[in-house]
Amino acid sequence: MAKDVIIACDFASGDETLAFLDRFAGEKPFVKIGMELFYAEGPQIVRSLKARGHRIFLDLKLHDIPNTVKKAMRVLSGLDVDLVNLHAAGTRAMMEAALEGLTRPDGTRPLLIAVTQLTSTDQEALESELLIPRPMEEVVLAYAKNAAAAGLDGVVCSPLEAGRVHESCGAGFLTVTPGVRFAEGDSGDQKRVATPARARELGSDYIVVGRPITRAADPLEAYCRCVKEFLA
Ligand code: C5P
Repeated sequence: MAKDVIIACDFASGDETLAFLDRFAGEKPFVKIGMELFYAEGPQIVRSLKARGHRIFLDLKLHDIPNTVKKAMRVLSGLDVDLVNLHAAGTRAMMEAALEGLTRPDGTRPLLIAVTQLTSTDQEALESELLIPRPMEEVVLAYAKNAAAAGLDGVVCSPLEAGRVHESCGAGFLTVTPGVRFAEGDSGDQKRVATPARARELGSDYIVVGRPITRAADPLEAYCRCVKEFLA
């Protein structure tokens, strides 16, 4: 898949999402449907956005026992999404089960990626709350290698870690990176952030951008700026 910008459509309703996307005129951006929108609207929002021609990253971050995740992924395999995810912290057994559940009878499946450490988690929280006394980059790389060993297609990580993930897991192993902010932007709750241009330099395959686009005065202009900086 070619590098691209994914817009995080973190909206409370389908109406709000469709009205937002109507502002993109002829553009059909790659969009991310997260928990808020999916829990509000259910699978129908996936079908609606697909029917409008968008590629879809379904960001539900599954994390449960292997059997439960496998069965949930089987349900999600019936939706025509391009990318789905889970938490690498669920262990290799859970990731392997997820892959099995996601694979359709004809052998096709959406791409499956694993969240390493959330881009809102910093070194201090990693050590004091998650009780992981290792440098963040080392943890992200270990989780990425585990995801690769389980047969997954890539990881969600910070742009700051994308280069090292490619070095360890191969150039074809996808790095999907949230935590993207314009140079003058507010980081909000994100801790491990980079600009779209820096994400490109660091080798991210996809940047996931929410509030810098959804809350911009002119979302189309903000999206085009991301595309220009990231794909330059
Ligand atoms: O608004 P913002 O650009 O921070 O949005 C980032 C999006 O990426 C959110 O929808 C968030 O749920 C998601 N995400 C993340 N960190 C991860 C995985 C997903 O921020 N590790």
